[in-house]
This record gives sequence, structure tokens and C-alpha cells, in this order.
Amino acid sequence: MILCGNPGASYAAHRAPIDAAIARVLEKGIYILGDETKAFEREFANWVGADHAVGVGSGTEALHLAMAAVDVGPGDEVITVAHTAIATVAAIELSGAIPVLVDIDFDTYTIDPQKIAGAITRRTKAILPVHLYGQMADLDPIMEIAQRFGIAVIEDCAQSHGAEYRGRRAGAMGTLGCFSFYPTKNLGAFGDGGAVVTSDAALADKVRGLREYGWRERNNRSLFPGWNSRLDELHAAVLRAKLGWLHADNRARRILAARYDAELAGLDLGLPRCRAQSSHVFHLYVVRSRARDALMAHLRQRNIMSTVHYPVPAHLQPAYAGRVATPGGMAQTEKAAAEILSLPIYPELMDDEQSQVIEAVKAFAVDLDIK
Ligand SMILES: Cc1ncc(COP(=O)(O)O)c(C=O)c1O
Repeated sequence: MILCGNPGASYAAHRAPIDAAIARVLEKGIYILGDETKAFEREFANWVGADHAVGVGSGTEALHLAMAAVDVGPGDEVITVAHTAIATVAAIELSGAIPVLVDIDFDTYTIDPQKIAGAITRRTKAILPVHLYGQMADLDPIMEIAQRFGIAVIEDCAQSHGAEYRGRRAGAMGTLGCFSFYPTKNLGAFGDGGAVVTSDAALADKVRGLREYGWRERNNRSLFPGWNSRLDELHAAVLRAKLGWLHADNRARRILAARYDAELAGLDLGLPRCRAQSSHVFHLYVVRSRARDALMAHLRQRNIMSTVHYPVPAHLQPAYAGRVATPGGMAQTEKAAAEILSLPIYPELMDDEQSQVIEAVKAFAVDLDIK
């Protein structure tokens, strides 16, 4: 079976340093907010190119905490996309705000900046661009609109560790950046984890307090209401180790993507498009096909797993029906949801496994031509 993503392969490839990191924490006997988390926060902030990072419980929680830090609350509106992991929209709802969903750009699957200004109202508190599949949203016009209206930009970087836009990394441009360390992510833990990054010291302080009951120090004095959303020491230690080869992993993903690009060109298939002056880290390799479901079944028959990220846009999900505005229509979002398919990609995917995927996709294209 060829998996679409494979976090177990990452462990198998780096067993010794990961085991050593885990043993170090187990033996030290401090499991929550100790030296490993502090060191990871320093190292990760540095890696992103921001001044501060705060380790938290998950990517969803990172978004929730970031919104709380800029006082997003009941009655406020946050502009984002419907074409994203549902966690993005769930986090907005968790903060009590109303998600205002706008359409995506056809080429990059990220928020269409031209749709944002028309969605802004007096209640808009933040814009939440999602850097989907490993490619950053078009942040310059987004930052310009946010500055014009005096609102925050919260980057959803869950799928874009290390992606760059005009020389800056995901998470370093917005008011705050939010990362997930879900196991399949480019930087993945062996469970849940996340981080909020920012270069605003006051906001970093606020997130640090919110993640632990409103404490500034671990002294049981709550200065403001908070809750519990901490990155644990075991995961911080594992992530420190993994940060050491994240750059090489992203390079391996790019090499795999380049081979797919070359070998799948010319088929009746839409291939990923990369924005100029940006770098894609291929968290996912997403193609488009008018016969998507048949292609997926064809691959499944050959023991190749492919996945749809994401089959039902947020505005069409029962949980959010009627609760979200959809200014300007969602044509690109709905078209993408019907056509997209994520092919296997992860740093340890072997050449011969990728050849099998390529041959299977080509064989499907030939079948389709004959019919
Ligand atoms: C775009 C996006 N945003 C947010 C999240 C939420 O992250 P987590 O699963 O760590 O809560 C994810 C991951 O699932 C994601 O892909």
C-alpha cells in the first residue's frame, strides 16, 4: 500500500535522534513547560523569522489563542476561505466570532485578495489567510487591505512550514502566525501540537498567558481568564530534533513534486501552479481531474491511497450552514472541491513507489482517452 502521507516513515528514517529526545525528557522528569519547550520556542521563532513563538496544544488552538490575543470575540467577523481544513472555521466559531467565507484564487487554492475588501464590514476584526497545500496566500495585497482598515492578519500556516513569499517565511508577515504539528504536517509531532508566532512582544505575552489560565508566571495567579493549551515537553523535544531536518524534508518534497510535474505534464490533469517569487513546500501535491472520483478509485485498486483535501467546503457543511456569509459567490471553491485529488507525497516516498503512482495515473489517462 502506498500511503498519501506517512509520518511513521519519518520515525523509521530518524529513529535514533527521536528516541534520544524522548528518553532525555522521560529521564529529566519535567513533562510540561520546561526547558525543551522554551528551547523549541526560541529555535522555531528563529526558523520562521519571527521574534517569538509560543508552543500550544494544536493548530486549532493556535488559531483560537491568536484570535483571543487580538480580542476577537462574539459579534466580530473574521474573513477566511471555505476551502480549508474545517479547523480554520471551527477556531473562528470557537472564539465566538462569525466566519465570513470568501472564494479562492483558481491557480493557488488560496484566498482571492480581490474578494476581501467587499467582505469587510464595521465588525471585521481580522483576515485569516490559509497557506494551503504548502503555498502561501498572496500576502502583500492582504496586508495592504488590513492596514487600510486597521485589522489584524492571522496566518494559518498549518500546511506551510518553511514556505516563502517574496523572501519571508510563512508566519513572519502577519500580526500572528499559527502552526499545527499534527503528525502528517511538514513538521509533525507524534500527537497533537501547535505554535503561535509573532514579532509583537505584547501579543506573545498574551498568548503565553492565555494558554495557561491567564498566568504570567506559574504561580497560580490568573491576571486574565485563560485556559489550558500547552505544548508538552515530549513533543517539544521531538520537534526540536525534527526541526534539524525540516529543510532537507522540504527539499525532498520539492524534488518529488518536480518529478510529478515533469512526468504528468500533457495529461488531461491540472497540475499545481506556484506563485512567482514564492517557494512551495508541497505539504500536499494536489492535481485536478474532471474524473476525480474515478481516478481515486483506479488508484485505490492499485493499492495507492489518494485523498481529497477537502471534499465539502465549509459553507456547505451542515454545522455551518446559514451561519456564514458568502459574499461574491464560491464558484472556484466549489469547482475545486469537485475536482481535486492529493497524490502521495512525503520525504521518504521511494523512487519506485512514485513510479508506480505515475504509471497508474498515466494508465488512467489512457483509459479515459479510449472511452
Ligand atoms: C489549514 C489547517 N488549519 C488548521 C489545522 C488545525 O490543526 P490541528 O489539527 O493541529 O488542530 C489544520 C490541520 O489539521 C490545517 O490543515
